[in-house]
Parts: sequence; structure tokens; C-alpha cells
Amino acid sequence: MHCRQLLLTLLVLMFISTSETCTLRKRISAVEGEPFYLKYCSSSSEHENEPTTIKWYKSSGSQGRIELNSNSSPRITLHDYVLEFWPVELDDSGFYFFQMGNDTYNWTLNVIRRTKHSCFAEEQLFSKIVEVKKTLQITCNNSYYEKLTNGTSLYKNCEKIENNKKSFLQKNAEFQDQGYYTCMFFLYHNGKLFIVTKTVNVTIVGDHSYIIPVLLGPQLNHIRVELGKDVQLNCSALLNEKDVLYWNVWKKNGKDPNVHEEEERRIKTSEGKWQASKILRIDNINEKNLNFSYNCTVAGKEGIDTRSFILLKKEDLVDIPGHIFTRGMIIAVLILVVVVCLVIVGIIYRVDLALFYRHFTRRDETLTDGKTYDAFVSYLKECRPENGEEHTFAVETLPRVLEKHFGYKLCIFERDVVPGGAVVDEIHSLIKKSRRLIIVLSKSYMSNEVRYELESGLHEALVERKMKIILIEFTPVGDFTFLPQSLTLLKSHRVLKWKADKSLSYNSRFWKNLLYLMPAKTVRPCRDELEVLPCFPGPDLQSS
Ligand SMILES: *[C@@H]1O[C@H](CO)[C@@H](O)[C@H](O)[C@H]1NC(C)=O
Ligand SMILES: *[C@@H]1O[C@H](CO)[C@@H](O)[C@H](O)[C@H]1NC(C)=O
Ligand SMILES: *[C@@H]1O[C@H](CO)[C@@H](O)[C@H](O)[C@H]1NC(C)=O
Ligand SMILES: *[C@@H]1O[C@H](CO)[C@@H](O)[C@H](O)[C@H]1NC(C)=O
Ligand SMILES: *[C@@H]1O[C@H](CO)[C@@H](O)[C@H](O)[C@H]1NC(C)=O
Ligand SMILES: *[C@@H]1O[C@H](CO)[C@@H](O)[C@H](O)[C@H]1NC(C)=O
Ligand SMILES: *[C@@H]1O[C@H](CO)[C@@H](O)[C@H](O)[C@H]1NC(C)=O
Ligand SMILES: *[C@@H]1O[C@H](CO)[C@@H](O)[C@H](O)[C@H]1NC(C)=O
Repeated sequence: MHCRQLLLTLLVLMFISTSETCTLRKRISAVEGEPFYLKYCSSSSEHENEPTTIKWYKSSGSQGRIELNSNSSPRITLHDYVLEFWPVELDDSGFYFFQMGNDTYNWTLNVIRRTKHSCFAEEQLFSKIVEVKKTLQITCNNSYYEKLTNGTSLYKNCEKIENNKKSFLQKNAEFQDQGYYTCMFFLYHNGKLFIVTKTVNVTIVGDHSYIIPVLLGPQLNHIRVELGKDVQLNCSALLNEKDVLYWNVWKKNGKDPNVHEEEERRIKTSEGKWQASKILRIDNINEKNLNFSYNCTVAGKEGIDTRSFILLKKEDLVDIPGHIFTRGMIIAVLILVVVVCLVIVGIIYRVDLALFYRHFTRRDETLTDGKTYDAFVSYLKECRPENGEEHTFAVETLPRVLEKHFGYKLCIFERDVVPGGAVVDEIHSLIKKSRRLIIVLSKSYMSNEVRYELESGLHEALVERKMKIILIEFTPVGDFTFLPQSLTLLKSHRVLKWKADKSLSYNSRFWKNLLYLMPAKTVRPCRDELEVLPCFPGPDLQSS
């Protein structure tokens, strides 16, 4: 009892003394290059009246005592009870003696080499232990040098703490606050700048309260396994540091040899508690491992918790997902096939679909564009015998079908324009009034006059984009090299092949394709019984 009281008193005394910034500790370390001082702790009442002489001595190694005075070193200053170093260096290590009358005091000073890549010396640390969620406070106070201090900064792990002007930190401690906090005091002495550091090793510890340990996951776990395979049962818990986690794998007649308990793994949570997990590995599963309850338990002062894991054979359930899977695959493939078929049918019958759509929506492109004719027909006009068929096609077949049956209005120069006059101008203005240019191609097509029609139409189609060109290959033409280059820019599907024997019916592909390329039009004025009457207003053509 007595002894403890004494110790307490001593501690209190020490605290008071250090707070008065005198140096009570006998063994002291200092960091090379920093200002440093030794101050004798006087019991002031003793020497108040009588003036006494104060002497300082140093001894190091083999050297005996040497008295120190202001001339001993430019780095040393002495006044009253204080010996100051500006700054302290490695060779200042040694014993220091203070003598005042009959009182003496001595210290052992150890000067520590500065660490190259660090802002503090590891040997010169204060430590501070803070509980998580409690207040962490770091104050940069240096009462001895306070008057000389002209700037203080606070660093954590040698990095300056941003937004910290007062070099003062106060917050609720979290685990990531752990680290080395260095206060740097900037002092001016005789016009030179010195830095004094003070570093605190802050350790954050979990609080001392206890939680009731719990296991994660459901109470009872059924695990589907295949015989012969391996399985890992993962048991994890939230617990206190001292709580234990274990598996019960013992049967009446001992433990199965293929059951192994693995090492426990623990990690600290942000609340300072622990999360532990322990794997139970069962290799090469056999019948004996089935239907047995493998229990995992966590136990501690505050409670106990258990989870059960039971292995079941997988077969019982495996078929149903298999069926579903197969069925799903079949359905997916069927859908794919249907989609592909639809796309193919759509491509093959795209013309029919487009015509049907036109018919269905009663679309009419011809109402608002201000043009008179649906198409201008250009063909070889010279009446050599071999071109007789072409002439018949252009002047008879085309108008019969397009005009009388489908209600289009064609412009056929030979038929609709009286010969003579300014042919070229006339052709040009007629083409401008037409929505399509139908060119009936044959090998001998390129006579001068039709060439003009062709070029005029190409100009409209390609340059002004006002007109589309429809090419009808009347007699098989091997290559189109005799045509102007610009014609090759037209898409190949715009070229329709006339096959005299197959193309006669209105329902033939040729006419459908031609209709598809012609503008959409809803009027259907010419019935078969009216066939005799002219469908095209001749005088109107003349005047335009
Ligand atoms: C110091 O010691 C001397 C003798 O060694 C003694 O005469 C003197 O009284 C002492 N002084 C004090 C202040 O204790
Ligand atoms: C330092 O002082 C202690 C008593 O406080 C003493 O026992 C020790 O011998 C002294 N050391 C030296 C080197 O004088
Ligand atoms: C800082 O404190 C922690 C915990 O108390 C300790 O493990 C570590 O060694 C200390 N660092 C130094 C450099 O002494
Ligand atoms: C630091 O100094 C301030 C005033 O300058 C004082 O209020 C505070 O108590 C001091 N803190 C410490 C730990 O000395
Ligand atoms: C520190 O001292 C320098 C010169 O002695 C002075 O210019 C500067 O303003 C001082 N800074 C502070 C923060 O007192
Ligand atoms: C076991 O489960 C815990 C919690 O779910 C997880 O953190 C751990 O990584 C798992 N262990 C293994 C080996 O999967
Ligand atoms: C496991 O238990 C179920 C009933 O809970 C039973 O039907 C089955 O036969 C048992 N299997 C084995 C291998 O003991
Ligand atoms: C596991 O726990 C269940 C009930 O929680 C119990 O019936 C069973 O016997 C236990 N198994 C072992 C191996 O302790």
C-alpha cells in the first residue's frame, strides 16, 4: 500500500515538473539538428535569497569533467538553470552535470541520428492509445519555445494535414487515424530558422465492450453435392477477440477421415470487432457424409451460436433444371429459325410486301410534287428492223400495262410530241416534269438523241436528286461499258430484265418490280372496258 502511494506521488510530481518544462528525466534523447535544452528543476523556495553560483559540466567517454561556459561552443547558451543547444549535434552526447552550491544534478544525453527519409526519429516518439469512436486530440504545444515560435504545422505520416491551420486535431477516432503525428515548430534564433519536432505514435484500439457473437447465414443449410466431388463449408461469424469458432464433426465412432477443418481467418471490422471464418473441407464425398449434421459453433462470454450444414445428393433435383434448360434451348433455336425464315421471306418478297404496304396505306407520292408525268420513256428510236421489237415494247407494251392497267401517266416522246421544233429543249423540259426516267437498254442504244435524254435524266437523277432512273434491259446486254460512267453508280437492282415469254402477265415479277420502282400512286382510272379511250391527255402534253 505504502509503496503504491509513493509511486503515485512520484508520478504526479513528474507530471507537474514536466509541465513546468524542466528536465527531470535522467536519461534523455534528442534528435540531431534540432534545438534542445536541459533545465534544472529547482525547488525554488530554497535559494530565493542567497545568490549562488551555477556551474555546468560535461563529461563524455574518457574525458573528465569539463566546465561549460558561453565560449565552449557557439551552439551553447547558458542562463540560470538552463543549458540550450542551437542546435544539438551528435557529439553533444554524454553526461551533463548541474551544480548550484551543494545541489547537483546529472543527465545522460543521447543524440539520435536523423532518419534520412522520415520527418521523425523512431527512437524519439511519444505514444498515445485511443479507443475507436472516442476523441482523438492532437495539440501542438511547446511551452518552452512558445515565445520564439513563429509557425507550427501538423503532419500525419510525414504528410501535411490539409485544412489544418491551427495545427490542432480533434475528431472521433477511426481505425484509419492510426499513424505518426508530427508537430513541427518553426523557431527563429539569432536570425536563423530552426525546427523542433514532436511526434506521437497514435494507436487506435477497439472499445472494450462485448458483442454477442453471431454466425452469418441461415440456421440450417442443405447443400446439394455429388458423390466423389469435394465441398467446402464456409462458416463465418462476428465475434469478440477472445471468442472461439469451431466445427463439430465427431460422430459416435470418430471423425470421418475425409473431413478436414482448415485454419481460421480473422479480419478486424471497422467497429473494432472481428469477423472470423473457418472452412470445413470434405474431400471425395461418400454416402457416410450425407444426412449428417455438420455443426459450426461460435462461443464466447456473451453467448453461443450454432449453424448446421447437411449434405444431400444432387441427383434428386438435377433433372428438372436439365429439362428446363433443354426446353429453353429448343425454344430459342425455334425462335431463331422463325426469325431467319421471316427475314429471308421478307427479302425475297420485299417487292410484294412493299406493293402490298403501298396498297394498304393508299400512299400517293404524286400528289404534291407538281410533276406531270410518272415516267419519261427513252428508247432507241431508229427504225431499223432489229429494233422493231423495242419500239413495240416502248410504245405499246409499256403504255398498255403502266397506263391502262395501273393508271400511270407516261411520256413517250415519239408518241406524245409532234416532231419538229426545238427537240432538245422540249426533251429537257419533259424530263423535268417526269418522276422517273425509264431507259430501255439494248446494245445499239446510244444514238445521239437518246444519249441526250439519258444525260439530261442522269443530271436530274444524280446531280439534282429529283428523279430516279429505271433501266430495262430489253435484249441481253453483256456489259454496260458503253453507258456513261455515272450510270454505274445506280444500284444494280434498278436494272430490270425483260423476258418476252415470262414477263407478259401483269402478275409477273418484271411488272411487280417495275411497279415497285415507279412512284406510289393510288389512282386506278383505266378499267379494261375503257381501254379504247386514250388515258393520257394529249393536248395537255402538247402545251407543256
Ligand atoms: C554545504 O556544505 C558545506 C560543507 O560541506 C556546509 O558547510 C554548508 O552549510 C552547506 N550549505 C548548504 C546550503 O547546505
Ligand atoms: C548521477 O546522479 C546519481 C544520483 O542522482 C548518482 O548516483 C550518479 O553517480 C551520478 N552520476 C555521475 C556520472 O556522476
Ligand atoms: C507505434 O505503436 C504501435 C502500437 O503501440 C507499435 O506496434 C509500433 O511499433 C510503434 N511504432 C514505433 C516506431 O515504435
Ligand atoms: C496548449 O496551449 C493552449 C493555449 O495556448 C492551452 O489551452 C492547452 O491546454 C495547451 N495544451 C497542452 C496539451 O499543453
Ligand atoms: C516569421 O518570422 C518572419 C521573420 O522573422 C516574419 O516575416 C514572418 O511574418 C513570421 N511569420 C509568422 C507566422 O509569424
Ligand atoms: C467465407 O465467408 C466469408 C463471409 O461471407 C467471406 O468473407 C470469406 O471470404 C469466405 N471464405 C472463403 C474461403 O470463401
Ligand atoms: C437421408 O434422410 C432422408 C430423410 O430425411 C432419407 O429419406 C434418406 O434415405 C436419407 N439418406 C441417407 C443416405 O441416409
Ligand atoms: C448439430 O445440431 C443439431 C441441432 O442443432 C443436432 O441435432 C445435431 O446432433 C448436432 N450435430 C453434431 C455433430 O453435434
